Amino acid sequence: MAPTMEQLRFLTDDQVRRLQAEFGTPLFVYDQASLERQAAIALGFPAPFGLTVRYAMKACPSAAVLRVLTGSGLHIDASSGWEVRRALAAGVPAERILLTAQQIPEDLADLVGLGTRFNACSLGQLAAFGQACPGHEVSVRLNPGLGSGHSNRTNVGGPSASFGIWHSNLERVIDTARDHRLRITQLHTHIGSGSDPEVWQRCAGLTLNLLRHLPDVTTVNLGGGYKVGRMSTEVSTDLQRAGEPIAAELRKFAQVDGRQLHLEIEPGTFFVANAGAIVAGVIDIVDTGKEGHTFIKTDTGMTEILRPSLYGAQHPIVVVPKEPGDRSTAEYLVVGHCCESGDVLTPEPGNPEGLLARTLTQVRIGDALVVDGAGAYCAAMASKNYNSFPEAPEVLLSKDGAFHLVRRRQTLEQVLQNEAIPEFLR
Ligand SMILES: Cc1ncc(COP(=O)(O)O)c(C=O)c1O
Repeated sequence: MAPTMEQLRFLTDDQVRRLQAEFGTPLFVYDQASLERQAAIALGFPAPFGLTVRYAMKACPSAAVLRVLTGSGLHIDASSGWEVRRALAAGVPAERILLTAQQIPEDLADLVGLGTRFNACSLGQLAAFGQACPGHEVSVRLNPGLGSGHSNRTNVGGPSASFGIWHSNLERVIDTARDHRLRITQLHTHIGSGSDPEVWQRCAGLTLNLLRHLPDVTTVNLGGGYKVGRMSTEVSTDLQRAGEPIAAELRKFAQVDGRQLHLEIEPGTFFVANAGAIVAGVIDIVDTGKEGHTFIKTDTGMTEILRPSLYGAQHPIVVVPKEPGDRSTAEYLVVGHCCESGDVLTPEPGNPEGLLARTLTQVRIGDALVVDGAGAYCAAMASKNYNSFPEAPEVLLSKDGAFHLVRRRQTLEQVLQNEAIPEFLR
């Protein structure tokens, strides 16, 4: 049976043509209504003793997206000192930012002085924080011993993951905190992106068990990682359902331990994945004969979206013909514009080395092609400037139907601006 043809999520064909004509391709477009809807759902996560919802801004750090989501009541999870500075520049108050980073910034004490909260991800980080900010409150990220992600590359828990402090090192955490007069007031776990909800729940149980040994903890942060289906055939996590067993655990914990724990969650994908799309153009159509394939070449690819070539991730692809009208369908492989055989948009699910043809509306050069579900880890995680293609612009679709340019297309001067030619080569 032919796979289901995907539909556009938040754009109409006419809007796609307008975007193509007004801004050129490729471009990213984000939808304010979808962002706000997702924020409202997450803020309804069951939490008997209070809830803070953070947006993991690494998923899509555009200032406009940060404004929409923080304007909807979200706080921020930042993954580097640079992201903290970026959130501050977008107008997010420092007290609303939690820094969970693999590399601690040189200006950590300044950021903490402004009000940024810090989540120590290793014993070394905890000691370094203690030296920079003795006597402070701190959060600690633990690796609870298990993980789950949509692929091994997004699994960040268990013995093969370097993220967080291994759970059996809890005594050393307590000693290090004591040495620097740190008060551990939050315990944090994040086990992967695209996690299995059952593993996530088990991880929450393990986290609460560990928390019994940390008497000053008042907040438990269970990270993000909720699965979001980009393709119509993929299933998304129901946050309400995933949250109910957690709420029950928190009530039980309060009865036994006496502490009514504030809950934090910090998804990224959940807010932005289906609130963003890439509008690209069809630049060529080639084939490899009867035994081969027909390829659509687009003016996007790994310069805007790495997920297919990195994980074999599936994204809806919809052809929008230049002129409205009926067209039949055909089987295509879709590839990007980089001189790289791995620059594919139609890999086999979960296997970036394989290819799987899609049934799409028949294309002609000049048609638009929308790669949907491209709000999370696309603009944020692309192989920028590979083959010297300039960074694509970003556009926000506001609720009144207007398009706003929120990042201009990079110019060649900007690509080159930090280069220097040493004297001997002049
Ligand atoms: C510490 C932390 N929190 C939250 C997230 C967000 O994950 P997701 O986008 O899968 O919800 C990540 C993603 O890598 C993370 O590292």
